[in-house]
Amino acid sequence: MSQAQSKAQRDVLSAAVSPEDEGFDRALRPRSLEEFIGQEKLKSNLRVFLEAARKRQEPLDHCLFYSPPGLGKTTLANIMAREMGVNLRTASGPILERVGDLAAILTDLSDGDVFFIDEIHRLNPLVEEALYPVMEDFTFFISTGKGPAASTLKLSIPRFTLVGATTRAGLLTGPLRDRFGIIGQLGFYEPAELEAIVNRSASILGIPADPQGASVIARRCRGTPRIANRLLRRVRDFAQVKGDGVITGPVAEYALERLEVDAEGLDASDRRLLLAVIEKFAGGPVGVENLAIASNEELDTLTDVIEPFLIQAGFMARTPRGRTATPKAYSHLGLKAPKQDLELL
Ligand SMILES: Nc1ncnc2c1ncn2[C@@H]1O[C@H](COP(=O)(O)OP(=O)(O)OP(=O)(O)O)[C@@H](O)[C@H]1O
Ligand SMILES: [Mg+2]
Repeated sequence: MSQAQSKAQRDVLSAAVSPEDEGFDRALRPRSLEEFIGQEKLKSNLRVFLEAARKRQEPLDHCLFYSPPGLGKTTLANIMAREMGVNLRTASGPILERVGDLAAILTDLSDGDVFFIDEIHRLNPLVEEALYPVMEDFTFFISTGKGPAASTLKLSIPRFTLVGATTRAGLLTGPLRDRFGIIGQLGFYEPAELEAIVNRSASILGIPADPQGASVIARRCRGTPRIANRLLRRVRDFAQVKGDGVITGPVAEYALERLEVDAEGLDASDRRLLLAVIEKFAGGPVGVENLAIASNEELDTLTDVIEPFLIQAGFMARTPRGRTATPKAYSHLGLKAPKQDLELL
């Protein structure tokens, strides 16, 4: 497969946000915890924290949400602000280049506001350090001047809630992580939850889909709402051009086959990655850098987007010595798994 083809393929199933998604993400984003489907444990904890903060008339404690892309972190940040009835300010790690960028936002906040920092693992270390006292007791230290004339100004910031989101909790420094009072991990969604998400999106977008059609999409979207919503739009294209516009089971199956999404929801990149582990590294273990080169993927895409689902779905395993293909990967690809070493049995 050519590079261009494989890129297009990746785009269909990639959990990473594409320009087309942005508008749809906004339109389809649930606006309350009530509308937010799945993640029941996290949601019920958040309900308690929200109610307690409202009762005490205090801002909510700082929250950190982490998960692979497309599972609802930005959505939850928006919901937190809405449920508290406050304004939301949004920034992201790479955008807050200098301490001054942070100062500009902090000094503009009102009491109780939510300040959302996306990709918080990518904060400049100087900006991150400036955040520590702000998160702890809403005090911001700014250095002014240079050399002997340098001095430090101490500013009081309105009491606000910092909501951070990251796809890489492991890259967060300990001091930053420790300053969040609420840490929530979002997991991949169950097929029944995804079916509910597909049905909700179909009704908002006015796309006719029958239960079988919704179920096929729900089972093949890598457990990810953003992908479910994207597949829904792509399958609608096939339904309109090849059928009578209704997404039925057979139409969805046909469309997903055309998009090279297989019965387990894996796409060409997923299969290429598994094949690389099996054919080029005898099933592994293989270090992730080598695997990225051998499978022609960016390292970050491999670790953040592709492998979390392959591991969760049981196709790949992460061991101290590297990634391995599981027997399930072999049988899914129609290959024979090698005999296990006797010492491993
Ligand atoms: N629990 C949910 N119920 C219904 N729809 C959801 C849910 N979670 C996510 N979605 C849908 O998926 C889209 C993507 O979610 P969101 O943008 O919040 O993901 P994210 O975790 O912030 O991803 P990224 O890591 O790429 O920033 C949302 O716009 C929404 O349409
Ligand atoms: Mg997001």
